[in-house]
Amino acid sequence: MAGDILKVIMMGPPGSGKGTQAELIKNHLGLPHISTGEIFRENIRKNTQLGQRAGKYIEKGQLVPDELTCEMLFDRIEDEDCKEGYILDGFPRTIEQAERLDKYLTERGHKIDKVLNMSIPDQEVIRRLSGRRVCSNCEEIYHIDDNPPAKEGLCNVCGSSVIQRKDDLPEIIKARLDTYYEISQPLISYYNRSGLVTIVDGTIGKTNVTRFILSLFG
Ligand code: AP5
Ligand code: MG
Repeated sequence: MAGDILKVIMMGPPGSGKGTQAELIKNHLGLPHISTGEIFRENIRKNTQLGQRAGKYIEKGQLVPDELTCEMLFDRIEDEDCKEGYILDGFPRTIEQAERLDKYLTERGHKIDKVLNMSIPDQEVIRRLSGRRVCSNCEEIYHIDDNPPAKEGLCNVCGSSVIQRKDDLPEIIKARLDTYYEISQPLISYYNRSGLVTIVDGTIGKTNVTRFILSLFG
C-alpha cells in the first residue's frame, strides 16, 4: 500500500553522527541511506555540472540552493531501491525543502514517519570533524583517535585512500555550524508541530546510539 513505506529523516548539526548511524541502521531497517552531501561529493569527484555548481557552496560551508538540491533528491527517491522507503541524511535542511518534500509526498499519498534529531554540543562537533577522515572512494567514515582505519590511510572496506573532507577545515566547520543554527535548526519546530521528532543523544557512543534508534522502530 502506498502509505506503508517507511521514511526516516536524520537531522542534526554537522558531525552529529547522521551518516555513521544511517549506515549502521540501514540493513536492520532494509532501507537505502540517502545523503545529499554524499551525492554532491560524488558529483564533485566526477566533475559533473551538478558537482561544479554545488561545489561552490559546499567549499564555503553554505547550503546548495533549494532548487538544485530538491531536484536531485526527488530524482534519487524515484529509484527502485526506494520503493520500500528510505533514510534521508541531511535533507531537508531548509523550510523550503521541507515544504517541497511534504508536497511531493502528499501528492503520492505518503508522509514522513520519523524525524531523528541527533544532538551533540559544539565542542564535540569540532573535535569530531577535525579528526574525521573518509574513504575517497566509498565514503566509509573514520576518526583519527576514536576509529582509525586498521591499515593507516587505507579504507577497511575497499582499500582506497582515506582523506580529510575539504569542508572539515576549522574555518569551514565554523561556517557550517553557523549555517546549521541559522537555517536548519528551525526545522525541528517545523516537524515538532506534527509530533514527528525524537531527540537522539548523539554523545553516548556509537553502539548505544544505534541501539536507541533501533528501539524506536520496535
Ligand atoms: P553533509 O555531508 O550532509 O554534511 P553535514 O550535515 O555537515 O554532516 P556531516 O556529514 O559532516 O556529519 P554527520 O552528522 O554525517 O557525522 P558523521 O557520521 O560523519 O553535507 C555537506 C555539505 O553539502 C553541506 O555543508 C551543504 O553545503 C551541502 N548539502 C548537503 N545537503 C544539503 C541540503 N539538503 N541542502 C543544501 N545543501 C546541502 O560523524 C562525524 C565524526 O564523528 C566521524 O569521525 C565519526 O567517526 C564520529 N562519530 C560518529 N558518531 C560518534 C559517536 N557516537 N561517538 C563518537 N564519535 C562519533
Ligand atoms: Mg554525513
